[in-house]
Amino acid sequence: MLDLIDKQKLPKHVAIIMDGNGRWAKERGKDRLFGHQHGVISVKDVVEGSAEIGIQYLTLYAFSTENWNRPENEVNGLMELLVTTIRKEAETLKENGVRLFVIGDMESLPPYCLNELNEAMEVTAGNDRLNLILALSYSSKWEITHATRKIAQQVKNNELNIADINEDVFRQNLATADFPDPELMIRTSGEHRISNFLLYQLAYAELYFTHTHWPDFRKENLFEAVLNYQNRERRFGKISEQLKQA
Ligand code: IPE
Ligand code: IPE
Ligand code: MG
Repeated sequence: MLDLIDKQKLPKHVAIIMDGNGRWAKERGKDRLFGHQHGVISVKDVVEGSAEIGIQYLTLYAFSTENWNRPENEVNGLMELLVTTIRKEAETLKENGVRLFVIGDMESLPPYCLNELNEAMEVTAGNDRLNLILALSYSSKWEITHATRKIAQQVKNNELNIADINEDVFRQNLATADFPDPELMIRTSGEHRISNFLLYQLAYAELYFTHTHWPDFRKENLFEAVLNYQNRERRFGKISEQLKQA
Protein backbone atom coordinates (compact mmCIF):
# COMPACT_ATOMS: atom_id res chain seq x y z
CA MET A 1 0.00 0.00 0.00
CA LEU A 2 2.74 2.39 1.04
CA ASP A 3 4.62 2.00 -2.28
CA LEU A 4 1.50 2.93 -4.24
CA ILE A 5 1.25 6.36 -2.58
CA ASP A 6 2.56 9.20 -4.74
CA LYS A 7 4.66 11.35 -2.40
CA GLN A 8 4.32 14.31 -4.81
CA LYS A 9 0.52 14.27 -4.51
CA LEU A 10 0.08 13.95 -0.76
CA PRO A 11 -2.64 15.89 0.99
CA LYS A 12 -0.91 18.44 3.21
CA HIS A 13 -3.73 18.34 5.72
CA VAL A 14 -5.92 15.38 6.66
CA ALA A 15 -8.85 15.77 9.04
CA ILE A 16 -10.53 12.81 10.73
CA ILE A 17 -13.86 12.37 12.52
CA MET A 18 -12.93 9.50 14.81
CA ASP A 19 -16.31 7.81 15.17
CA GLY A 20 -17.60 4.44 16.33
CA ASN A 21 -15.87 3.87 19.67
CA GLY A 22 -19.19 3.25 21.42
CA ARG A 23 -20.46 0.77 18.82
CA TRP A 24 -17.11 -1.04 18.79
CA ALA A 25 -17.34 -1.52 22.55
CA LYS A 26 -21.00 -2.55 22.45
CA GLU A 27 -20.22 -5.26 19.87
CA ARG A 28 -17.82 -6.66 22.46
CA GLY A 29 -20.29 -6.41 25.34
CA LYS A 30 -18.21 -3.68 27.01
CA ASP A 31 -19.03 -0.15 28.09
CA ARG A 32 -18.40 2.87 25.89
CA LEU A 33 -15.24 3.95 27.71
CA PHE A 34 -13.61 0.66 26.74
CA GLY A 35 -14.07 1.77 23.12
CA HIS A 36 -12.59 5.20 23.79
CA GLN A 37 -9.56 3.61 25.47
CA HIS A 38 -8.94 1.46 22.41
CA GLY A 39 -9.40 4.49 20.22
CA VAL A 40 -6.20 5.89 21.72
CA ILE A 41 -4.22 3.03 20.13
CA SER A 42 -5.62 4.08 16.75
CA VAL A 43 -4.67 7.70 17.39
CA LYS A 44 -1.07 6.72 18.10
CA ASP A 45 -0.87 4.52 15.01
CA VAL A 46 -2.41 7.12 12.70
CA VAL A 47 -0.15 9.90 14.04
CA GLU A 48 2.83 7.64 13.37
CA GLY A 49 1.59 6.77 9.88
CA SER A 50 0.95 10.41 9.02
CA ALA A 51 4.48 11.38 9.99
CA GLU A 52 5.85 8.38 8.06
CA ILE A 53 4.32 9.38 4.73
CA GLY A 54 4.89 13.10 5.19
CA ILE A 55 1.47 14.55 5.96
CA GLN A 56 2.10 17.96 7.52
CA TYR A 57 -1.18 18.61 9.32
CA LEU A 58 -3.46 16.09 10.98
CA THR A 59 -6.65 17.30 12.66
CA LEU A 60 -8.50 14.85 14.88
CA TYR A 61 -12.06 15.50 16.05
CA ALA A 62 -11.79 14.24 19.60
CA PHE A 63 -14.71 15.94 21.38
CA SER A 64 -17.46 18.12 19.94
CA THR A 65 -19.42 20.91 21.61
CA GLU A 66 -22.44 18.60 21.37
CA ASN A 67 -20.57 15.79 23.14
CA TRP A 68 -20.94 17.75 26.42
CA ASN A 69 -24.54 16.50 26.34
CA ARG A 70 -23.48 12.87 26.78
CA PRO A 71 -23.95 11.11 30.15
CA GLU A 72 -21.75 12.63 32.85
CA ASN A 73 -19.68 9.48 33.43
CA GLU A 74 -18.77 9.29 29.74
CA VAL A 75 -17.78 12.98 29.59
CA ASN A 76 -15.66 12.64 32.74
CA GLY A 77 -14.11 9.42 31.47
CA LEU A 78 -13.18 11.09 28.17
CA MET A 79 -11.59 14.07 29.93
CA GLU A 80 -9.56 11.77 32.17
CA LEU A 81 -8.50 9.67 29.20
CA LEU A 82 -7.40 12.82 27.43
CA VAL A 83 -5.28 13.95 30.36
CA THR A 84 -3.64 10.58 31.01
CA THR A 85 -2.91 10.10 27.29
CA ILE A 86 -1.38 13.55 26.87
CA ARG A 87 0.69 13.08 30.03
CA LYS A 88 1.95 9.70 28.81
CA GLU A 89 2.59 10.71 25.21
CA ALA A 90 3.91 14.28 25.36
CA GLU A 91 7.53 13.15 25.49
CA THR A 92 7.08 10.72 22.55
CA LEU A 93 5.43 13.46 20.51
CA LYS A 94 8.38 15.69 21.27
CA GLU A 95 10.93 13.06 20.24
CA ASN A 96 9.08 12.29 17.02
CA GLY A 97 8.90 15.87 15.80
CA VAL A 98 5.16 16.25 16.40
CA ARG A 99 3.82 19.64 17.42
CA LEU A 100 0.53 19.69 19.31
CA PHE A 101 -2.23 22.27 18.79
CA VAL A 102 -5.76 22.48 20.15
CA ILE A 103 -8.75 24.11 18.45
CA GLY A 104 -12.04 24.62 20.24
CA ASP A 105 -13.55 26.39 23.19
CA MET A 106 -10.62 25.74 25.53
CA GLU A 107 -12.20 27.73 28.35
CA SER A 108 -14.95 25.16 28.65
CA LEU A 109 -12.47 22.37 29.42
CA PRO A 110 -11.81 21.47 33.07
CA PRO A 111 -8.70 23.31 34.37
CA TYR A 112 -6.70 20.10 34.97
CA CYS A 113 -7.22 19.26 31.29
CA LEU A 114 -6.26 22.70 30.12
CA ASN A 115 -3.04 22.67 32.16
CA GLU A 116 -1.96 19.33 30.73
CA LEU A 117 -2.69 20.48 27.18
CA ASN A 118 -0.88 23.79 27.61
CA GLU A 119 2.14 21.98 28.94
CA ALA A 120 2.20 19.52 26.02
CA MET A 121 1.80 22.36 23.51
CA GLU A 122 4.71 24.17 25.12
CA VAL A 123 6.94 21.09 25.21
CA THR A 124 6.33 20.36 21.52
CA ALA A 125 6.39 23.97 20.29
CA GLY A 126 9.81 23.57 18.65
CA ASN A 127 8.69 20.71 16.38
CA ASP A 128 7.67 20.97 12.75
CA ARG A 129 7.57 17.46 11.24
CA LEU A 130 3.86 16.91 11.85
CA ASN A 131 1.34 19.38 13.24
CA LEU A 132 -1.23 17.43 15.28
CA ILE A 133 -4.36 19.48 15.85
CA LEU A 134 -6.87 18.20 18.38
CA ALA A 135 -10.39 19.54 17.99
CA LEU A 136 -11.66 19.62 21.57
CA SER A 137 -14.92 21.13 22.68
CA TYR A 138 -14.99 22.21 19.07
CA SER A 139 -17.86 22.92 16.74
CA SER A 140 -17.88 24.88 13.51
CA LYS A 141 -20.91 26.92 14.50
CA TRP A 142 -19.08 27.96 17.68
CA GLU A 143 -15.95 28.81 15.68
CA ILE A 144 -17.77 30.85 13.02
CA THR A 145 -19.81 32.75 15.61
CA HIS A 146 -16.64 33.44 17.57
CA ALA A 147 -14.83 34.69 14.44
CA THR A 148 -17.74 36.99 13.64
CA ARG A 149 -17.58 38.46 17.12
CA LYS A 150 -13.82 39.08 16.82
CA ILE A 151 -14.25 40.79 13.44
CA ALA A 152 -17.11 42.96 14.76
CA GLN A 153 -14.90 44.04 17.66
CA GLN A 154 -12.09 45.04 15.27
CA VAL A 155 -14.55 47.13 13.25
CA LYS A 156 -15.87 48.75 16.42
CA ASN A 157 -12.29 49.58 17.50
CA ASN A 158 -11.66 51.19 14.09
CA GLU A 159 -8.96 48.61 13.37
CA LEU A 160 -10.80 47.24 10.34
CA ASN A 161 -13.07 48.70 7.64
CA ILE A 162 -16.20 46.77 6.73
CA ALA A 163 -15.18 47.00 3.07
CA ASP A 164 -11.92 45.20 3.90
CA ILE A 165 -13.62 42.11 5.30
CA ASN A 166 -12.80 39.42 2.77
CA GLU A 167 -12.24 35.66 2.83
CA ASP A 168 -8.70 36.10 4.01
CA VAL A 169 -9.71 38.28 6.98
CA PHE A 170 -12.40 35.77 7.87
CA ARG A 171 -9.96 32.88 7.67
CA GLN A 172 -7.50 34.68 9.95
CA ASN A 173 -10.15 34.92 12.65
CA LEU A 174 -10.95 31.21 12.66
CA ALA A 175 -9.35 28.82 15.15
CA THR A 176 -7.52 27.26 12.18
CA ALA A 177 -5.90 30.55 11.07
CA ASP A 178 -2.42 29.00 11.08
CA PHE A 179 -3.31 25.89 9.09
CA PRO A 180 -4.12 25.26 5.44
CA ASP A 181 -7.57 23.79 4.67
CA PRO A 182 -7.76 19.99 4.73
CA GLU A 183 -7.70 18.36 1.30
CA LEU A 184 -9.01 15.08 2.71
CA MET A 185 -11.59 14.42 5.42
CA ILE A 186 -12.10 10.89 6.71
CA ARG A 187 -15.01 9.71 8.85
CA THR A 188 -15.00 6.24 10.31
CA SER A 189 -17.87 3.99 11.35
CA GLY A 190 -20.26 4.50 8.46
CA GLU A 191 -22.01 7.79 9.27
CA HIS A 192 -22.27 10.13 6.29
CA ARG A 193 -22.35 13.49 8.03
CA ILE A 194 -20.06 16.32 9.10
CA SER A 195 -21.39 16.76 12.68
CA ASN A 196 -20.36 20.41 13.01
CA PHE A 197 -16.71 19.78 12.03
CA LEU A 198 -14.70 22.36 10.00
CA LEU A 199 -17.71 23.44 7.90
CA TYR A 200 -15.87 26.42 6.42
CA GLN A 201 -12.50 24.71 5.94
CA LEU A 202 -13.92 21.60 4.25
CA ALA A 203 -15.48 23.63 1.43
CA TYR A 204 -13.38 21.80 -1.18
CA ALA A 205 -12.12 18.78 0.74
CA GLU A 206 -12.46 15.28 -0.64
CA LEU A 207 -14.65 13.24 1.71
CA TYR A 208 -13.87 9.62 2.51
CA PHE A 209 -16.17 7.39 4.52
CA THR A 210 -15.34 3.94 5.83
CA HIS A 211 -17.36 1.42 7.84
CA THR A 212 -14.33 0.60 9.99
CA HIS A 213 -14.92 1.66 13.59
CA TRP A 214 -12.28 4.02 14.94
CA PRO A 215 -10.69 1.50 17.39
CA ASP A 216 -10.00 -0.79 14.39
CA PHE A 217 -8.56 1.99 12.22
CA ARG A 218 -4.80 1.75 11.63
CA LYS A 219 -2.19 3.53 9.52
CA GLU A 220 -2.91 1.09 6.64
CA ASN A 221 -6.50 2.38 6.59
CA LEU A 222 -5.14 5.92 6.43
CA PHE A 223 -2.87 4.98 3.53
CA GLU A 224 -5.86 3.44 1.75
CA ALA A 225 -7.79 6.70 2.17
CA VAL A 226 -4.84 8.72 0.86
CA LEU A 227 -4.57 6.43 -2.16
CA ASN A 228 -8.27 6.82 -2.82
CA TYR A 229 -7.83 10.62 -2.58
CA GLN A 230 -4.96 10.50 -5.08
CA ASN A 231 -7.18 8.83 -7.64
CA ARG A 232 -9.78 11.57 -7.59
CA GLU A 233 -9.96 14.49 -9.97
CA ARG A 234 -10.19 17.77 -8.05
CA ARG A 235 -11.81 20.20 -10.45
CA PHE A 236 -12.51 23.24 -8.25
CA GLY A 237 -15.40 24.26 -10.50
CA LYS A 238 -13.50 23.85 -13.76
CA ILE A 239 -13.96 21.12 -16.37
CA SER A 240 -11.77 18.10 -16.79
CA GLU A 241 -10.16 19.27 -20.07
CA GLN A 242 -8.94 22.49 -18.47
CA LEU A 243 -7.04 20.54 -15.82
CA LYS A 244 -5.28 18.44 -18.45
CA GLN A 245 -4.08 21.56 -20.26
CA ALA A 246 -2.51 23.02 -17.15
C1 IPE B 1 -16.38 8.78 18.74
O1 IPE B 1 -17.05 7.59 19.01
C2 IPE B 1 -15.72 9.40 19.94
C3 IPE B 1 -16.37 10.61 20.44
C4 IPE B 1 -17.39 11.21 19.90
C5 IPE B 1 -15.80 11.20 21.63
P1 IPE B 1 -18.50 7.58 19.59
O2 IPE B 1 -18.44 7.66 21.07
O3 IPE B 1 -19.33 8.62 18.93
O4 IPE B 1 -19.00 6.14 19.15
P2 IPE B 1 -20.42 5.76 18.55
O5 IPE B 1 -20.68 6.66 17.38
O6 IPE B 1 -21.43 5.95 19.65
O7 IPE B 1 -20.28 4.32 18.15
C1 IPE C 1 -18.63 13.51 16.09
O1 IPE C 1 -19.07 12.26 16.47
C2 IPE C 1 -17.71 14.07 17.12
C3 IPE C 1 -16.46 13.36 17.32
C4 IPE C 1 -16.02 12.34 16.64
C5 IPE C 1 -15.62 13.89 18.38
P1 IPE C 1 -20.49 12.03 17.17
O2 IPE C 1 -20.65 10.57 17.36
O3 IPE C 1 -20.61 12.88 18.36
O4 IPE C 1 -21.47 12.58 16.04
P2 IPE C 1 -23.03 12.33 15.80
O5 IPE C 1 -23.72 12.70 17.06
O6 IPE C 1 -23.20 10.89 15.48
O7 IPE C 1 -23.36 13.21 14.64
MG1 MG D 1 -20.49 8.66 17.26
